[in-house]
Amino acid sequence: MKALIVYDSVFGNTEQIAQAIGNSLGSQAEVNTLRVGDVKPEQLMGLDVLIVGSPTRGFRPTPAISNLLKSIPKNGLEGVKVAAFDTRISMNDIDSRILPPLVKVFGYAAKPIADRLKKGGGELIIPPEGFFVEGTEGPLKEGELERAADWAKQIMSLS
Ligand SMILES: Cc1cc2nc3c(=O)[nH]c(=O)nc-3n(C[C@H](O)[C@H](O)[C@H](O)COP(=O)(O)O)c2cc1C
Repeated sequence: MKALIVYDSVFGNTEQIAQAIGNSLGSQAEVNTLRVGDVKPEQLMGLDVLIVGSPTRGFRPTPAISNLLKSIPKNGLEGVKVAAFDTRISMNDIDSRILPPLVKVFGYAAKPIADRLKKGGGELIIPPEGFFVEGTEGPLKEGELERAADWAKQIMSLS
């Protein structure tokens, strides 16, 4: 099975999650884990599994991830199993009255990533997932790397 994990990361937390997913898949598949800037559009072709992850920034993925997803031609992911993840801050950790209702409406990065992958013809095999950081620069909350590894195992069992 050929799998690619594409991620973006500003402070390194999403990178750690991507590596944990890659390591977890790695024992049973041909896996590449690549930062978005190192991915050429043609590397998205001919895969069995494509997993895309981004930090949530302003309720959305980073521009680099959005641009890569936009470059996927219609039906370019036909026959590819896809999954999406993000990193995010828990609402419980935000001391604001304004943000929670906005988050309710606009959400996090993983869902729009998943929507784009589906638009490209990919088959979404697991719901979009979010992994929590303690604050803007991290660190990841305790147990999130393990949760990422488990999430990858579910992907493996579904693909
Ligand atoms: C400009 C900016 C916008 C952000 N917007 C959101 C947001 O809308 N929702 C959220 O949960 N976290 C938000 N965050 C926190 C990021 O999700 C957090 O920095 C990210 O998970 C860290 O991942 P990284 O280390 O891979 O960059 C924002 C952070 C920055 C700097």
